[in-house]
Amino acid sequence: MTFHRHSISAQSFAQEVIAGLSSSPRTLPPKYFYDQRGSLLFDEICRQPEYYITRVEMDLLSRCLHEIRAAVPAHSVFVELGSGASTKVRLLLDALSVRRYVAIDIDPTFLLQSTQALAHEHFNVDVHAVYADFSQKFPPLPLDDFPVIAFYPGSSIGNFEPAGAVQLLRNIATFAGSGGQILIGRDCSTDRHQLEAAYNDKAGITAKFNLNMLERMRRDLGADIAEDAFAHHAFFNAPQNRIEMHLVAQSHCTFGVAGHQFTFQAGETIHTENSYKYPDRVFHSIVQQSGWHEVMAWTDSTQRFTLQLLST
Ligand code: AVI
Repeated sequence: MTFHRHSISAQSFAQEVIAGLSSSPRTLPPKYFYDQRGSLLFDEICRQPEYYITRVEMDLLSRCLHEIRAAVPAHSVFVELGSGASTKVRLLLDALSVRRYVAIDIDPTFLLQSTQALAHEHFNVDVHAVYADFSQKFPPLPLDDFPVIAFYPGSSIGNFEPAGAVQLLRNIATFAGSGGQILIGRDCSTDRHQLEAAYNDKAGITAKFNLNMLERMRRDLGADIAEDAFAHHAFFNAPQNRIEMHLVAQSHCTFGVAGHQFTFQAGETIHTENSYKYPDRVFHSIVQQSGWHEVMAWTDSTQRFTLQLLST
């Protein structure tokens, strides 16, 4: 197993926090959810009964595995973006005779643990772990001359605004090269009740995940935010086709972070995440603008989740 480090500085975290809290409306970038605790909490979210996304995608992946195998080259390099626990890719590595697996993640500890475990189980796959923030640009990747298949499951593309999604897919097309492919998963549910339940699980794991952003600011930036100053709030914004996650100030409060003071009125929010549920028509246009074209698509029987294989 080879580890590649393109580390993210505490300084950029401080700068993005100050910029986000100074803007109107106030925001924080969702990529900062994923420190070690955040990655573990996200893994736990994926096991909650209300968070159907993981289950439906796993099921869909296993059911269309033979069709994927027929459509992609063998002995390829599989590049997973935001690999987390590397759970879904396990289904594919053996079935597709993958030569090399490159896992990219923003949390170095979880990345190392997950890829080490995977390398033990799949000794015939050459495993590379790349610690990097790919939201702006990709670092050099160990691809050699193998055919490239990018893997972007979990509907993480929905955490990007439409323009950001186009840019990200363009950046993937650049490293995938001519004939490169991407297997991408997208939640396309419009069922408000089910969506809001998925982001407000009864066990309160999503709430902990959202609030962990403040915990990270306390730990890494010395923020003096009181324990119960903010609460989790998630709702479906139907006109925008997205779940929004916010942290809502419970009363008037002032706190300091990295040498800056911020005052919130009761009810004022920090917008921490959008999770777009891109409809087919919108996603089709994103794909076209980013230089990819569709090869195959599979949708689950409840029409909530779509997996697409795209080619450059
Ligand atoms: C990683 N991403 C696709 C998740 C989502 O559903 O947007 C993150 C998440 N946020 C709250 N629950 C899960």
